[in-house]
Formats: sequence, C-alpha cells, structure tokens
Amino acid sequence: MTAVNKIVVLGAGNVGGSLAQRLAEADLAHEVVLVDIIDGLPQGKALDIQESAPILGFSTRVVGTTSLDALDGADVVVETAGLARKPGMSRSDLLEKNASILKGHAEAVKARAPQAVVVVVTNPVDVMTYYFRQVTGFSPSHVFGESGTLDTARFRTFVADALHVAPRDVTGFVLGTHGDTMVPLLSLTSVGGVPLTTLLPSHRLAEIVQRTRSGGGEIVNLLKTGSAFYAPSASQAELVRAVVRNEHRLVPVSAYLSGEFGERDVYIGVPAVIGRAGVERVVEVALSPEEQAAFRGSVEAVRADLNVLARMPG
Ligand code: LAC
Repeated sequence: MTAVNKIVVLGAGNVGGSLAQRLAEADLAHEVVLVDIIDGLPQGKALDIQESAPILGFSTRVVGTTSLDALDGADVVVETAGLARKPGMSRSDLLEKNASILKGHAEAVKARAPQAVVVVVTNPVDVMTYYFRQVTGFSPSHVFGESGTLDTARFRTFVADALHVAPRDVTGFVLGTHGDTMVPLLSLTSVGGVPLTTLLPSHRLAEIVQRTRSGGGEIVNLLKTGSAFYAPSASQAELVRAVVRNEHRLVPVSAYLSGEFGERDVYIGVPAVIGRAGVERVVEVALSPEEQAAFRGSVEAVRADLNVLARMPG
C-alpha cells in the first residue's frame, strides 16, 4: 500500500488526537507526528496510539512533540490547532484567536515543508484556509480545507436514518461555507442512484437540511465542553488518504476559486478532485436559481469574515 514518509498533525486536541490514530491505523505514512504547545499532551497521545500497534498491526511510527521543527520535510500537514466552539458561539467568533495561532504554523510550514499538501481544519475553516494559503504563499492547489466531507457525512447519516438504508449508499454534496449558510444540494443527492427527491417528501428534506446546517452545533450543545471530533477526524483521514494514495476522489472541500461558480479569490466548499497534488481541479455543477442564491449568500458570509481578517493588526 502506498504510504508517504511523514504526515504532521498540528494540534493534539480531540480532533488532532483521533486523526493521528486514524492515520496510523490506516498505515498512510511511515511516521505520523502530533504537535502541540502543551508539553506532554502530544507525547502522551502519540505513545498511547503507538502502543496499540501490536494489537492493530500497523507499522506507522507515531511521535509527539512540542517542536515545529518536526515539520521538516513533511509530505502532508493537517492544521487542527486552535480553539473550538463552546455553546452559543459561532465558528466566526473564533476568527482572531485562531488566526494568530495559525500564523506561526503557516510560517513554519512554509520554511520547513515547502512541498507539503496542507489540509486546514481550524474554524472558521474557509477563512483559515484562505489565511494559511496567504501566509505560506503556496499554490492554492496545495492548500485546501475540510468541511464539506464532514457536512456531507452528517447529511448522509440523517438521510440514511430517515430511509433506513445503509449510510454509505447515500451520496450527495453540501456546498458553500462550513457554517449556517451551507448549501446541501438536494438535486445531486441520490440513494443507490435513485434521486433523493423522489424518496422523501419536501418537508422531511427541509428538516434534514436544517439539521445538517446546525449539525456541528448539535454536537457542541450535547458535549458542552468542546466540538465534534469523531466524524471530523474520519472526514479528514479520508482526504489525507485521497492525497497519499493519489485517489482522485471527487469530494466537497474548501477550495480556492478563480472564476469557478462565478467567484474569485475566496475559499469555499465546492466539489473538487483530490489527489497527490492536492486539489487537481474544481468541478462546476449547474445550480438551480435557489441554490445559486444560497451559494452566493454563503460566499458573502466568508467575505465578511475575510474583511475582519484583513483589518487584524500584524
Ligand atoms: C463541526 C465543527 C468542528 O462542524 O466545525 O463539528
């Protein structure tokens, strides 16, 4: 099985820790490095994951460190660092604090891993991905954000539940920002090839769309002390696998637009082909007038946050 030499996961919180576990178990790299500023946390989680290797049979070496020197020569970097939401907060409330954390990381990635493909997870993800790309100066294809694979997974889960079918048989897309203005594309959703709109009445579809939009918040409200990490890390691992194994997966990610969907100079959730070079291409799909308007609203919400970011000192 194809594996790269080194994957670095920045941030050893719940998302970073469970992602490192999933990556190690999938044997996607010779070495998975977990980095955090809290001494002991990345080392402890890495050692704990490593000690599962004899049972699970993976050969990845899992290392924890507080030093960004570990980025040296990384093939793939996943940025998970930053604060998570508490109940009542929007993802945008995290903007300034998380941007200040990402800045140092992006500078270190630029210096130490100039060839890396970077997956950004930190919220608000569309804005943080833009910022990470800007600070590194990397080609936009080498930096993308994870959001739509997670939102789509939630959407597919709720559809599967409503229809009592296997979750993996539900395919579909959620576009736009990872936030309240995301746009689940009902017209492109099918269950084993059967159009979803023929399987559920519109009021049920509307409920599922609404639950998907607030899917992250639903978990935050239940957990009370943090946000989701099992489905997020599964979705991130799927993207990392697509890169490492050059799978050319067509999935929704936060990608840089330069004219596609009528937008430019913004990162937002769209269907894209993901392989060893990162985003190989953005795939444009025809949107209904309603979906188009919702997508535009989503882009405007991201631009509003980008303006806040542009006014930040330093
Ligand atoms: C979520 C957060 C992590 O959607 O953005 O669960």
